[in-house]
Amino acid sequence: MDATRITISTPEDHKALLALYPEAFPDEDLTGLVADLLGHPDVLSLTAWTGLSIAGHAVLTRCSVTDDDTRVALLGPLCVAPQAQRQGLGRALIEDAARQLKAESVSAMLVLGDPNYYTLCGFDQVSPVAAPYPLKPEWRDAWRMRPLTDAAPERGTLRVPTPWADPVLWS
Ligand SMILES: CC(C)(COP(=O)(O)OP(=O)(O)OC[C@H]1O[C@@H](n2cnc3c(N)ncnc32)[C@H](O)[C@@H]1OP(=O)(O)O)[C@@H](O)C(=O)NCCC(=O)NCCS
Repeated sequence: MDATRITISTPEDHKALLALYPEAFPDEDLTGLVADLLGHPDVLSLTAWTGLSIAGHAVLTRCSVTDDDTRVALLGPLCVAPQAQRQGLGRALIEDAARQLKAESVSAMLVLGDPNYYTLCGFDQVSPVAAPYPLKPEWRDAWRMRPLTDAAPERGTLRVPTPWADPVLWS
């Protein structure tokens, strides 16, 4: 396999990053959300490369929590091109994000996603922080937290910036 690396996304990456989504998520249209998130001041966007090709993307949105002065980050979307899946890129993106966010004292990462996958990537507890909008009961196990520091929140509700402040994204 070509060498893999993770970089902070630049505007030159955006077209190729947006093109990954219809391939990785054929049943969902996430390009509008991702376009809104790219370049947002609260977002850490990471590009995964195999050789000279863009093969994966992770978006982390820095957020606050009610009743707590800690900062957390919402992971999503995370996507790897179909031909590059199951080769460690998803995990590498998550680990790089964890390292960078911990260095800026972000205390936890939160995700709404497949618990079978995210548990393997360190999201080993159901989030004690409530989602910003009510989740369907069957999604509760999919709302997960990975603590990064001892200050990870134990209660409260996630406060999200504009691109995520849409109940449709959470239902
Ligand atoms: C889900 C996704 C991000 C995983 O990325 P990836 O690079 O293929 O995954 P990795 O190679 O890093 O896998 C890490 C571990 O998770 C396992 N894994 C990968 N995909 C999995 C899945 N869908 N379900 C359960 N486990 C999975 C791998 O076998 C590996 O386990 P191991 O370390 O014990 O071998 C990627 O497959 C993808 O983009 N899928 C389509 C879109 C999607 O579903 N995105 C987010 C989920 S909400």
